[in-house]
Amino acid sequence: MRSFSRVDQGTALAEYDLNAGVNSTLLVAYNEYKYTAVVHKDLGNVPQFQAVGGQINQVLLNLIVNAAQAIRSQNRDAPGVIFVKTFTESGHAVCEVFNDGPAIPADVAVHLFEPFFTTKPVGEGTGLGLSISYDIIVNVHKGYIGFTSDDTGTVFRFELPLDGVD
Ligand SMILES: Nc1ncnc2c1ncn2[C@@H]1O[C@H](COP(=O)(O)OP(=O)(O)OP(=O)(O)O)[C@@H](O)[C@H]1O
Ligand SMILES: [Mg+2]
Repeated sequence: MRSFSRVDQGTALAEYDLNAGVNSTLLVAYNEYKYTAVVHKDLGNVPQFQAVGGQINQVLLNLIVNAAQAIRSQNRDAPGVIFVKTFTESGHAVCEVFNDGPAIPADVAVHLFEPFFTTKPVGEGTGLGLSISYDIIVNVHKGYIGFTSDDTGTVFRFELPLDGVD
């Protein structure tokens, strides 16, 4: 668990194992989703690559907590589904976090990565999770983060270059 946040390692780049990051983040977040969703994983063959591991794990945590909160917002009787998938594509390590919660309306979608944008009740969300995630993936790691959303659910996807950051 000590390896999860890596306070000791700060912002240093090091070899990072994305699948191990997913597994440790799911352990850390367990209390957040255990009554809300069943989690499925499909962790593919992703080589290690240079990254600030504690920051990528923070992104994973933000996405998984958001997924659980989205499902919970529907107050359903039965648990929802969170699906975490990793794979390699075009020289990138890719991670997708799906949840079968509500569609994100178009007028909300355009603001999602803005700092302090939240639709959650006061005290529940600060609206920083996705703006920090964007900063970590795009600015620090020269990667990509985006999402698609419709009535069947929402998928957040990030991509990180396997040849690392300069
Ligand atoms: N998986 C999702 N499904 C539906 N809406 C989402 C999802 N993820 C994020 N959102 C929307 O994007 C907004 C911003 O998300 P973000 O993670 O930046 O902030 P937050 O979750 O509200 O607060 P914080 O992450 O700081 O606790 C959320 O308030 C919510 O409206
Ligand atoms: Mg959040």
